Amino acid sequence: MKMNDQWWKKSVVYQIYPRSFMDGNGDGIGDLQGILEKLDYLKELGIDVIWLSPVYDSPNDDNGYDIRNYQAIMNEFGTMDDFDQLLEEIHKRDMKLIMDLVVNHTSDEHDWFVESKKSKDNPYRDYYIWREKPNNWGSVFGGSAWEHDEKTNEYYLHLFSKKQPDLNWENPKLREEVYQMMKFWLDKGIDGFRMDVINFISKHPELPDGAKGEGQTFGDGSPYFMNGPRIHEFLHEMNQEVLSNYPAMTVGEMPGASPDFAISYTDPDRKEVNMIFTFEHMDLDSAPGGKWNLKPLHLPDLKENLAKWQTALHNKGWNSLYWNNHDQPRIVSRFGDDQNYRVESAKMLAACLHFMQGTPYIYQGEEIGMTNVKFDSLEDYRDIETMNMYKERIALGYSHEEIMKSIYVKGRDNARTPIQWDTTANGGFTTGTPWIRVNPRYDEINVKAALEDPQSIFYFYQKLIALRKEMDIIIEGDFKLLLEDSSEVFAYERNWKDKQLLVLCNFSSTEVVIEDEELLTRMRESKLVISNYESGNMSVLRPYEAVVLKI
Ligand code: NOJ
Repeated sequence: MKMNDQWWKKSVVYQIYPRSFMDGNGDGIGDLQGILEKLDYLKELGIDVIWLSPVYDSPNDDNGYDIRNYQAIMNEFGTMDDFDQLLEEIHKRDMKLIMDLVVNHTSDEHDWFVESKKSKDNPYRDYYIWREKPNNWGSVFGGSAWEHDEKTNEYYLHLFSKKQPDLNWENPKLREEVYQMMKFWLDKGIDGFRMDVINFISKHPELPDGAKGEGQTFGDGSPYFMNGPRIHEFLHEMNQEVLSNYPAMTVGEMPGASPDFAISYTDPDRKEVNMIFTFEHMDLDSAPGGKWNLKPLHLPDLKENLAKWQTALHNKGWNSLYWNNHDQPRIVSRFGDDQNYRVESAKMLAACLHFMQGTPYIYQGEEIGMTNVKFDSLEDYRDIETMNMYKERIALGYSHEEIMKSIYVKGRDNARTPIQWDTTANGGFTTGTPWIRVNPRYDEINVKAALEDPQSIFYFYQKLIALRKEMDIIIEGDFKLLLEDSSEVFAYERNWKDKQLLVLCNFSSTEVVIEDEELLTRMRESKLVISNYESGNMSVLRPYEAVVLKI
């Protein structure tokens, strides 16, 4: 393969959150042998690349996003031999594997931090960010972003939990260690990395206080750590030292990156990363003050936002396309209707996204339309972010009911309940006691049922993936929003050479009449590519109907 071959432009990625995918040994926790058992299922879906969330040795304060040893496998997940076997079996099936690269922070139990804490002149002291006095930044997971350490009477920075101290990228020795570690995995044969909050690694050297809203205890440090002063330099260096020597793909998770930033990160000439994950479209149903403050989605906001990304990056950078991941609630419960139109709306959402330009990501369970979960008791929840938020909001005077409502809509555990494989106990995920309860809807929503039903969401995704392989226009075409003023319909066209695609998606539970005569004429002259309903009257879109046409 040529080093500059952009194979990832034609790929569809499937994300596995290993803890919740499949338990191979009955201990209630998903593992590598469990994934191995299910590779043929993923092959049948037709995906090209697996993104594996962290499987490294970790004390699991944040489910593996707190790494103790970058070059060892978490005991609960298996051994390095299991990993090697998994990689081999993935490649045998002509699929690829990308790993999570979590290098904004480590676990506080990582050897580097254990050393760093010992004394101010320890050789590892400067691997982390220590200060005599903290600034006013709040952590993403609540509370201060600084933790006092008794031994040396200084504070260390942790943008996430206090068990996730931030690494000091100003230190060239640290950077070199990270690059060596990346080579270790690439030399094993992995095919790239998803980079955790990678645009947080360059902090403003003075760490100034952040602005504080009224009544807020902590300041917002994000202007001083998101897309920071040396970020492009660090990413370019990583590219030159490591990535450019392998046919690897990279996707940087980048909260707070606008399309302009995205272009500068993904412009191939700049040699930084191949694509980024934006969060703008995931923030549209949050009120000021953050994700727990609920607000219904206003469809025109979503249309405007995705259209902006599609047009801005066309021919300049590259988009990643996603509705779900392990941090987001389930899309069918979020922008669809998981009660009355679960199958229709799950398919509609899939079609709406998969005909855009970029590399699509499917999160485990999305392909069978898994839904959010509503556990009665807080005790059934596991996520550190949820737990911290609950304590913080109770202290601020919010009611239990109000907080639970936010958790039901936005909690990360919605995405983390085990995959529902069949109707046996625990949805066939484990023969033991699952680490988090299985969504009770497993009776109705499960892989086995999906595979037995030719009309299932699974086969719709399979078809979308296959179409991407057949129709270059999906990869190459430009993007233009149609029916801009509609509050119910998300419609767009793609153009490439003499070809055209029309995509119409009804985001509402009512019928919508299309009145645009010019568009209707074009629709009548075109051929159906895919739809989530039996053929009907072109001028009326039924609840959550999606129609894709080609000219
Ligand atoms: C983003 C990851 O996706 C999330 O799960 C994690 O908690 C934070 N980064 C910290 O690593």
